[in-house]
Amino acid sequence: MNDVQALRQCLGKFATGVTVVTCADANGNPNGITANSFSAVSLEPPLVLWNIAKVSNSLDAYLSAKYFAVNVLTADQRNLAAHFAKSDHTRFDNVEYTTSANGVPLLPDTLATFNCRTHEIHDCGDHYVIIGEVNSFKSAEREPLLFFGSAYRAIAK
Ligand SMILES: Cc1cc2nc3c(=O)[nH]c(=O)nc-3n(C[C@H](O)[C@H](O)[C@H](O)COP(=O)(O)O)c2cc1C
Repeated sequence: MNDVQALRQCLGKFATGVTVVTCADANGNPNGITANSFSAVSLEPPLVLWNIAKVSNSLDAYLSAKYFAVNVLTADQRNLAAHFAKSDHTRFDNVEYTTSANGVPLLPDTLATFNCRTHEIHDCGDHYVIIGEVNSFKSAEREPLLFFGSAYRAIAK
């Protein structure tokens, strides 16, 4: 195992939730990418962040998007997590969604949704850190989807 693989494995010891970050690309087409790098940053002003790999095929869409949404997945939305982690550009074929007033695709029945305006983008190593100002948000009483040690998990009762 090389250093990068060892670091990735060690980082995988940090259990996270799972989100699909969505935006519209420059042509208005819906885009979505599974991301577990989501984190809270600030309450006043309300800021959140996530990181996108520079190698992502979706990079241009997120770097130019004025708005994006963080869709926090429920335990029974594992199929959406797997779907939006695939590298193809027909991601919203056969996926149910609505569109926000700002043109951002929104997944239904999420655990939480944060509608964001892109606030700052930082060039950091092999990723960009995208910070969003939360314009609106909602949540529901459901169980979260978790990611730990390269596998999807659910909270044990
Ligand atoms: C659980 C999970 C979390 C992920 N988190 C991120 C992330 O935070 N940032 C990122 O750029 N990619 C992340 N990925 C990888 C992307 O989902 C995936 O590489 C991408 O969708 C591939 O397609 P693209 O190159 O067309 O964007 C994650 C994948 C999984 C399965």
